[in-house]
Amino acid sequence: MTDIADVLLVHGGTPLEGEIRVRGAKNLVPKAMVAALLGSEPSRLRNVPDIRDVRVVRGLLQLHGVTVSSGEEPGELVLDPTRVESANVADIDAHAGSSRIPILFCGPLLHRLGHAFIPGLGGCDIGGRPIDFHFDVLRRFGATIDKRADGQYLEAPRGLRGCKIQLPYPSVGSTEQVLLTAVLAEGVTELTNAAVEPEIEDLICVLQKMGAIISMDTDRTIRITGVDKLGGYTHRAIPDRLEAASWASAALATEGNIYVRGAQQRSMMTFLNTFRKVGGAFEIDDQGIRFWHPGGPLNAIALETDVHPGFQTDWQQPLVVALTQASGLSIVHETVYESRLGFTSALNQMGAHIQLYRECLGGSACRFGQRNFLHSAVVSGPTKLQGADLVIPDLRGGFSYLIAALAAQGTSRVHGIDLINRGYENFMDKLEGLGAHIELPRKDAEPAPAVA
Ligand code: EPU
Repeated sequence: MTDIADVLLVHGGTPLEGEIRVRGAKNLVPKAMVAALLGSEPSRLRNVPDIRDVRVVRGLLQLHGVTVSSGEEPGELVLDPTRVESANVADIDAHAGSSRIPILFCGPLLHRLGHAFIPGLGGCDIGGRPIDFHFDVLRRFGATIDKRADGQYLEAPRGLRGCKIQLPYPSVGSTEQVLLTAVLAEGVTELTNAAVEPEIEDLICVLQKMGAIISMDTDRTIRITGVDKLGGYTHRAIPDRLEAASWASAALATEGNIYVRGAQQRSMMTFLNTFRKVGGAFEIDDQGIRFWHPGGPLNAIALETDVHPGFQTDWQQPLVVALTQASGLSIVHETVYESRLGFTSALNQMGAHIQLYRECLGGSACRFGQRNFLHSAVVSGPTKLQGADLVIPDLRGGFSYLIAALAAQGTSRVHGIDLINRGYENFMDKLEGLGAHIELPRKDAEPAPAVA
């Protein structure tokens, strides 16, 4: 059950118009903060958004003796790791369930302290989200892992040594685990079937600035030659292409026009192609991208999510809301997370027609086809959406509910909005700046949510 302060009233039917700014990528910034742990000198990270994932990592770094302070420019953090120390297990455990980033502390802490404690992880409920690849990777480097009730205890009694690793799937987090462990490991590490998302390239840039030796081949192979010591870095985080696409989808679904300052074409090319196929318009300049609905009907499309350079899974949920307004049958095949389409049941409650299937529809067969997961969708549109009581299921699903509520006629009560703060900086101010009619309900006026 959500708390009253966690509910937003959204009066829909008004196009979103105006300008917002995206800052550093949620899926890079916390990892670059962890990388600072590997250095022998302070690091400066710029373009840091004020989101919960950043606050969680900041807290965990501070528990380990890293001094984190504000730099000269807004959104700049100075991370000083010169006094890294063991943290109290109970204090670390207070962060259990808060995020998935703590798993990436393993390699850096093993290098710095010879041991690490990792609490239970959080993150969005969009599939099983196992961490087996991470532990396989760490064992290959020479770590021992003791799983106990309160979390995982790791040690590296003989240090960490470079190795050959082939990932079963190009997992983003596991690739980052390898990078953050291999840079100070003894010898060469060769990682095949690596993820190559733009946020990973940016993490490699951070590590290279610190003194690491990392090369990327064209075939998802990354080679890392371990070095004895790393320094600090000064780095401006790449902008959040996932947040930018969320606002683009909001412009399309509400028939609006949003200039996303900070959005970059290079990391969004696949999204931009799809946006154009659906019928959305955009214009790119040096500072950002303007997205708008050009009028007339939108087109149904076939969409398959994939690892980069494919269509990013985090773009899927917001765009599906816009697809409810397209004419005809759209097919969506989610191949990265087995349960990332559950959010559509609330859209149906609002008037959308979305049917889920266990089969791989519309494209190639994926890992989930034989495993009974509802991971394909047929969206039949256009459908008028009506306001409803909505309970936010996960970060991107939550933002999608906001888009749907804004596109709908009438008022929606959106419960659990605090989850959105995990990855969308200042989203309520941004919405108001775009002309959205939103309000926090009065304390005495809030009924319990109708949807569990
Ligand atoms: N997987 C395993 N075992 C593992 C690790 C992953 O089976 O040990 C599977 C996952 O279950 C999933 C697939 O591999 O089916 C891909 O997972 P990946 O490791 O790539 O995801 P992640 O690192 O946990 C990051 C982002 C996600 C984003 C994915 C894919 C962060 C903090 N999270 O997650 O972002 O969807 O990569 O690009 O960087 C979001 O921003 O809303 C979000 C969920």
